[in-house]
Amino acid sequence: MKGIILAAGKGSRLYPMTRPTCKPLLPVYDKPMIYYPLAVLLQAGIRDILVIIPPGEEGPFYRLLGSGGRFGVNITYEVQEVARGIADALLIGEQFIGDDSVCLVLGDNIFYSADFEQSLRRATAHETGACVFGYYVDDPRAFGVVEFDEQGRAVSIEEKPRFPKSNYIVPGLYFYDNSVMQIAHELKPSARGELEITDVNLAYLRRGDLHVVKLDRDFVWLDAGTANSLLESALEVKRVQDQTGRYIACLEEIAYQRGYISRQTLLRHAAALDKTLYGHYLECL
Ligand code: G1P
Repeated sequence: MKGIILAAGKGSRLYPMTRPTCKPLLPVYDKPMIYYPLAVLLQAGIRDILVIIPPGEEGPFYRLLGSGGRFGVNITYEVQEVARGIADALLIGEQFIGDDSVCLVLGDNIFYSADFEQSLRRATAHETGACVFGYYVDDPRAFGVVEFDEQGRAVSIEEKPRFPKSNYIVPGLYFYDNSVMQIAHELKPSARGELEITDVNLAYLRRGDLHVVKLDRDFVWLDAGTANSLLESALEVKRVQDQTGRYIACLEEIAYQRGYISRQTLLRHAAALDKTLYGHYLECL
């Protein structure tokens, strides 16, 4: 399975912060935002990763992540010249995906739970079709909203509905089989002029091929796309880390635990970060 991070948004909801630095490179507490979706891909066991970035940002992304070797993965980059919507990431990544299945994750989404790897295993276990998640929020109007029937089966998905049919939103983490490419090619832009990921999910739903895994209420999902949610995300990451003593999205830790990097490499990274709590955390693993 291939992994794609869509990290190409201008971040206009975060101006002026995102004038000099694009959104996925802004900090969420103690790490750049893109560490969080990248951690999800690593936790899902995905090692071939395409990062879709805004024009002119190759230098900063490369300085941060390089070609992925320090985390034992392969990272390549493609530029999204014009923001055409989330589903456009699939078209940009077409060659990279090839005949494989794909996991797409949004560059400003943060996921955390102690047993997240279990949910990811359920998502990657499906050989065919699509798998997305359902997450309860108080106000779902800014998101893709999924409605369930009495048996818990997904029956509708709507993008940013004015009158949501449920409180379950579909967060920005999507698993697709290779037939997604055909679906992506047939998409038409929505009223807001975007190729909507909700339309991709609807295509799977209509043919009875969409699995929706409900996430527990104690699951942490955050969308760090506005000034308020960026601050709330940072506070939440700090709170969880302080409370549990475990770091969220510690890429070196995940890579080490999965055997992608050696202890020696881990300690080398720790030494380079030795003025930070993050570095001390790595040393103690
Ligand atoms: C996008 C998707 C939406 C999804 C959300 C998750 O919204 O269109 O379906 O629920 O990401 O963050 P956008 O970021 O475009 O507002």
